Amino acid sequence: EEIEVLYEIDSTNEFLKRNYKSFHDGAIVVAIKQTAGKGRMGRSWYSPEGGLWYSVLFKPKIHINLHVYTKIFSIAIVEVLRKLKIKAYIKWPNDIYYNGKKLCGILSEAVSVNDRVVAIIVGIGLNVNNDIPEELKNVAVSIKDILRKKVKITYLLDSINKHAWNILVNYRNETENITKLWKKYLVPREGDVLKVKVDDEIVEGKVLKISDDILYVDVGGKVIGVQSIHQLVE
Ligand code: BTN
Repeated sequence: EEIEVLYEIDSTNEFLKRNYKSFHDGAIVVAIKQTAGKGRMGRSWYSPEGGLWYSVLFKPKIHINLHVYTKIFSIAIVEVLRKLKIKAYIKWPNDIYYNGKKLCGILSEAVSVNDRVVAIIVGIGLNVNNDIPEELKNVAVSIKDILRKKVKITYLLDSINKHAWNILVNYRNETENITKLWKKYLVPREGDVLKVKVDDEIVEGKVLKISDDILYVDVGGKVIGVQSIHQLVE
């Protein structure tokens, strides 16, 4: 197992994008803190000391959809957290939540050369022992706040990776089963009634079907494809 620990870096995802050639399949890069942590959709990810900020590199020999990697890590994280008695769940499409607040985000990226995927980078940001800034306390939470004690970051890193690796080798060719497991922990569920934003208006709808990147919602008999999490209203 190849683990590189960096004290400070812009972003572990960016670091691996620049340096993937020097690392093996399965290599892990952890940062104590990131100075330019990245979230999805161009957002920034606040990464002070105390959190678990890392990326895993895959150099796939066969093509596996990026969503599959994200799902595997989402499942692994939820199951490791549940072992710690934290009832975490996956908030569609790929955040880990606890009690309506974000605990962890995942950013998976592919590096292609001449249309061929040469590297997959799965970036994980888990709030562990870090303080959540005042302005984010309504939307984010850390493990320390849930359990009221600090948890060893190395324990989490190790358990998540071992578990993800097991899921990956057991299900490699059965992505439907990964999706099934993912849906077990997913919120919303098919059939749930929720609020979505359509043309700046908030309306109620029923979830008909959930795919990796689209939520099909029935709004008064009309089916709407919800693409971004911003369209989901709490
Ligand atoms: C999100 O929810 O928007 C995804 C957040 C992903 C954050 C992690 S922290 C380690 C890795 N490096 C980054 O710059 N981002 C990911």
